[in-house]
Amino acid sequence: MAKLRSFFPWFLAWLLVVFTAQMVDADDIWTALNYSVNGRLYRAEPFSKPCFTIYNGNLVSSDEAACSLVGADYTNNTVHVNEPVGYMYLQSEVCLSDPSDQCLLDPATTSTGVPSSYASCNQGSVPDYYIEVQSELDVAAGLEFAKANSMPLSIKNSGHDFMTRNSQKGSLALWLHKLKGMTYHDDFQPEGSNESVGRAMTVAAGELTGDVFEFASDHGSMILSGYSPTIALSGGYIQGGGHGVLAPVLGLAADRVVEFKIVTPDGVIRTANSHQNTDLFKALRGGGGGTFGVVLEATHRVEPVAPIAVAAIQLPSDITVDTSKDWIELQARESLRWGKDGWGGHVAGTYLTYMNPLPSIANLSDRGAAARESMRNATQFAQSVGGTSVVEVLPDWLDVWNKYGASVTSNSAGRIRLVTSRLLPQHLFASEEGITKVMEYVDEVYDLGFDPRELYVPVNAPFVANDAMERMPKGQPGTSVHPAWYNALWEISASVNVPWNATFDDRVRNLTALAKWTKLQEDLAGPGSGTYMNEANPFTQNWKDSWWGSHYEELLETKKKYDPDGLLKCWKCVGFEDADVESDRFKCMGKLQQAVDGNNA
Ligand SMILES: Cc1cc2nc3c(=O)[nH]c(=O)nc-3n(C[C@H](O)[C@H](O)[C@H](O)COP(=O)(O)OP(=O)(O)OC[C@H]3O[C@@H](n4cnc5c(N)ncnc54)[C@H](O)[C@@H]3O)c2cc1C
Ligand SMILES: *[C@@H]1O[C@H](CO)[C@@H](O)[C@H](O)[C@H]1NC(C)=O
Ligand SMILES: *[C@@H]1O[C@H](CO)[C@@H](O)[C@H](O)[C@H]1NC(C)=O
Ligand SMILES: *[C@@H]1O[C@H](CO)[C@@H](O)[C@H](O)[C@H]1NC(C)=O
Ligand SMILES: *[C@@H]1O[C@H](CO)[C@@H](O)[C@H](O)[C@H]1NC(C)=O
Ligand SMILES: *[C@@H]1O[C@H](CO)[C@@H](O)[C@H](O)[C@H]1NC(C)=O
Ligand SMILES: *[C@@H]1O[C@H](CO)[C@@H](O)[C@H](O)[C@H]1NC(C)=O
Ligand SMILES: *[C@@H]1O[C@H](CO)[C@@H](O)[C@H](O)[C@H]1NC(C)=O
Repeated sequence: MAKLRSFFPWFLAWLLVVFTAQMVDADDIWTALNYSVNGRLYRAEPFSKPCFTIYNGNLVSSDEAACSLVGADYTNNTVHVNEPVGYMYLQSEVCLSDPSDQCLLDPATTSTGVPSSYASCNQGSVPDYYIEVQSELDVAAGLEFAKANSMPLSIKNSGHDFMTRNSQKGSLALWLHKLKGMTYHDDFQPEGSNESVGRAMTVAAGELTGDVFEFASDHGSMILSGYSPTIALSGGYIQGGGHGVLAPVLGLAADRVVEFKIVTPDGVIRTANSHQNTDLFKALRGGGGGTFGVVLEATHRVEPVAPIAVAAIQLPSDITVDTSKDWIELQARESLRWGKDGWGGHVAGTYLTYMNPLPSIANLSDRGAAARESMRNATQFAQSVGGTSVVEVLPDWLDVWNKYGASVTSNSAGRIRLVTSRLLPQHLFASEEGITKVMEYVDEVYDLGFDPRELYVPVNAPFVANDAMERMPKGQPGTSVHPAWYNALWEISASVNVPWNATFDDRVRNLTALAKWTKLQEDLAGPGSGTYMNEANPFTQNWKDSWWGSHYEELLETKKKYDPDGLLKCWKCVGFEDADVESDRFKCMGKLQQAVDGNNA
């Protein structure tokens, strides 16, 4: 591999130039590319295509058996994650600004035999072709091809992205899901360093969170990742920052990563850590996926297995809005103390799921007494309204995950669902004035049609992580996540589902409502705040500042250094420009952006 590294991309470039120069027929350049990736180039077709008789304007034959499978799997997350063109949320699949340019089924009919749909299936934002990537050579081939043929490139991993950055109309996609492999290190030494950083795990780009947790546990360790079994830890998750329920104590995933291996747009494999390519290392720790190159693998610090406390508190499903608001207020009032106690997870309108690795709370010897005491007020509230509270300590993160986390959101695919979120600073929760503001926000969004019982708030900012950070190698350049992460407590969120068959005007109405929520969240968080770009409203106007704050200019420099031709470009990624909103390439998002901006002007 080491030898090929310097030799192969140039050889390939030469090969492609020779091929492209000699062959005039468009099909032939694809044949040549297919040859250079050992036959792993495929045409990409929308998930539901077998159900249609007209595809991209041509008569095709539908396939009843395949179609009923599509129907059965329509909302199945696992199936979508494993598909080369399976996107968790459909805004990545459709052309959101053009209701006729999509290939969707009526979700009400997918479980009833042969699903019904519009008459025709169109490509939407699904790429034209994809390469099933099995090695860095495939990545280099894709990059060279895109450059030689001015072909837009997209990168698809687990397909979890909310902001459509994992697909692109008219693009060639690199599908990374098959890049598998994990290695455990007792004492990892980053390349170019003479000091080791302790326990770590090297995780290939396509490995999914659930499998990563199991592998860590097999090696007596626990690792931080997201609260969904199918997120790709070393993919867009960590490159955007990466929070998880243990992050208040352990830090963000981007805080904990010690090394990336990446193919940069020039086709070269580079190692980025705190000793080599430090600018790239910083950019990959929060600058966003799909921007600086194709990450092959990342190495993450891990912790020895330790007990974890859990609080799973559930209110009855028929509580009133007022009871929900009282519950939200209680959670807001307790949040700072819970944060100091080491809890992280999710507070919500009808429940709370918190987890905690701090030994003083996650104490097996006291049989959970300290954990129960810390959660006493919440438990009392829940019980007083007929709800339930389980507060317990389990010996291993994997036990906690299997019991509480593994099955969440297994059936949420198959819809157009957009989110908006904002990082709320800790100080809001320290005063009556702040609590009042939080509750006023809840009332305001209620007036806009958002039921408080639907509230969902990740509480995963690196709240007490300072200890953990100090154990990191000295002189690390730091992350590029929004600085607001490091004094935040709640990530207040809201989401909107856009009906599958909504007209353009309906879509604009839904997204205008989302934009209003974003504005209310911004006002609540106050100046200097930011958002988590992986869970943000893609129609946010001041996106550079919202995603990265003071880091943007430096990220742009790094982008220009490693990708001077702008080979990698995605919606509101570093290097995206406001002028791109009006471009043909990004029209599927751009036309809606313009309409929403017009409504909010
Ligand atoms: C159900 C659900 C639960 C979630 N829970 C959490 C959570 O608990 N914590 C959290 O922090 N986030 C969470 N998220 C958000 C998640 O972090 C983002 O969706 C993220 O973009 C997923 O990255 P991915 O690589 O898995 O997905 P993809 O959609 O495949 O990729 C996302 C972006 O990263 C790029 N990319 C992917 N892999 C690479 C690579 N190897 N090299 C370069 N670019 C790459 C893609 O081009 C795209 O731009 C959740 C999302 C969903 C849908
Ligand atoms: C690439 O080659 C493989 C193997 O020959 C073939 O199955 C596949 O259809 C080809 N892809 C394209 C886009 O022609
Ligand atoms: C989703 O599909 C997988 C694989 O076919 C299957 O094992 C799983 O049970 C399905 N999940 C749901 C929620 O239907
Ligand atoms: C590592 O290298 C640095 C500078 O090159 C040196 O100062 C330090 O003593 C070395 N540490 C070890 C453990 O060898
Ligand atoms: C755990 O609980 C035991 C029994 O109450 C107590 O002696 C011990 O100090 C506790 N450990 C921590 C870290 O608080
Ligand atoms: C519970 O609420 C009361 C009254 O608001 C407060 O004084 C106390 O600190 C809270 N926490 C616990 C653990 O009792
Ligand atoms: C969308 O589909 C639903 C059925 O799922 C139907 O009731 C509704 O009228 C349709 N709306 C439009 C705008 O076509
Ligand atoms: C989204 O639009 C649909 C109609 O297309 C509507 O029923 C729904 O209430 C809208 N949601 C929001 C939050 O605007």
